[in-house]
Amino acid sequence: MSDKATIEIDGEKYDFPLIVGTENEVAIDIKALRSITGGAITIDPGFKNTGSCESAITFLDGEKGILRYRGYAIEELAEKADFLEVAYLLIFGELPTKEQNEKFHADIKAEAVVDEDVKKIIDAFPKSAHPMGVIASLTSALTAFNPSSVNVNSEEDMYRAIVKILGKFPVLVAWTMRKKQGLPLNYGSDSIGYVENILKMMFEKPNHTYEQNPILVNALDKLLILHADHEQNCSTSTVRIVGSSHAGLFASLSAGISALWGPLHGGANQAVLEMLEGIKQDGGDTKKYMAKAKDKDDPFRLMGFGHRVYKNFDPRAKIIKKAADEVLGDLGVTDPVLDIAKGLAEEALSDDYFVQRKLYPNVDFYSGIIYRAMGIPVEMFTVMFALGRLPGWIAQWREMRLRKEPIGRPRQVYIGETYRPFVNLEDR
Ligand code: SDX
Repeated sequence: MSDKATIEIDGEKYDFPLIVGTENEVAIDIKALRSITGGAITIDPGFKNTGSCESAITFLDGEKGILRYRGYAIEELAEKADFLEVAYLLIFGELPTKEQNEKFHADIKAEAVVDEDVKKIIDAFPKSAHPMGVIASLTSALTAFNPSSVNVNSEEDMYRAIVKILGKFPVLVAWTMRKKQGLPLNYGSDSIGYVENILKMMFEKPNHTYEQNPILVNALDKLLILHADHEQNCSTSTVRIVGSSHAGLFASLSAGISALWGPLHGGANQAVLEMLEGIKQDGGDTKKYMAKAKDKDDPFRLMGFGHRVYKNFDPRAKIIKKAADEVLGDLGVTDPVLDIAKGLAEEALSDDYFVQRKLYPNVDFYSGIIYRAMGIPVEMFTVMFALGRLPGWIAQWREMRLRKEPIGRPRQVYIGETYRPFVNLEDR
């Protein structure tokens, strides 16, 4: 294969080196493009063909439906690892040894307390506030209560900030939900695991000791692993570009949470359940909604379907669909929207419109069915996505800082008015 790409502009030829990754992905290195061509740039709305960085964290192959964290297949990690092991792997690059795992757990548990004044911030929100807006605010507010976590120039400072947010974020997630429900805000316990604590803080009632259900613990652990990273998606790219200005980790994560909120991204898991509920209320006529999804004049989209990269089944959707069957079966729960979801998927997978556009169920299509079976309110679904994605955002932010990436500052092609002299008010 050639080791360069050549671009010709006005008869002038310019050569650019190729970068080839460990999975043989090829990129044209255009770092010198503007300087050697005298000003030409590229343009690529949505960055569909543009790489923002070289990264060693997550590999995905959209055509083959492959997803690996640091070289390990998502199917194996979901089956054999737990969430904090995967968090350690994503952030530090290797699966932890027994000692490293124990220290990581202990350091995170030591940080699983939040300044009581944070409750005053939560109290200021109306119960009607969307939990994503609350958790984004609380995450940014953490900077005020942990100022040492802003200028993390040493690996030690970075580690301290990382265990702080991994310890405190689940508390904020639980408090966000409990506040909305009018329930007391409580803590976990250092005698139980990370995922058990999330469930305990979310569901323990003042008059009822929460009994851990291993089915729910296992399902939530698996969901968090499946959401943990996904290379340069919208919210991760946001975390990286905000962090590239040397804004602190918590501020960068807060920006990523806001990007994830959108219904085209992480907000889709809430939109899927609302869509399925709407179809159920409307008599369960999936064919009517399939027609709406294909109608260019109809803004309705089949939420949870399609993906920028996956042009095959999202491997996470396959695992989550199986887990949804298991969880509902084990809990003895029947949820009619699961049948509607399966009916939509079967129809779409044999419909030319979807087949031609390679639209398959994505990570958000089935996840909400499990969250609902757990008793998590639909407005909290995207917060659960953020909880899972936290280690991936941290890993990508850390990689960007350790590689000393330059501040992100894209160029543009100006298409506005050319120079024109000012016109005084009385002359307009
Ligand atoms: C996530 O990037 C990531 O990795 C994200 C994520 C992660 O882990 O971080 O995987 C998580 O965000 C998953 C995606 C969740 N979003 C949704 O489920 C929302 C519904 N899906 C879409 O809106 C859409 O598929 C996107 C946003 C996911 C991808 O959009 P693209 O890549 O910009 O594709 P497009 O909008 O240009 O669509 C291509 C064609 C269009 O039709 P034509 O103009 O070619 O005729 O496919 C159609 C679209 O109209 N299309 C859909 C559709 N998705 C695309 N038609 C109906 N229903 C849909 N869901």
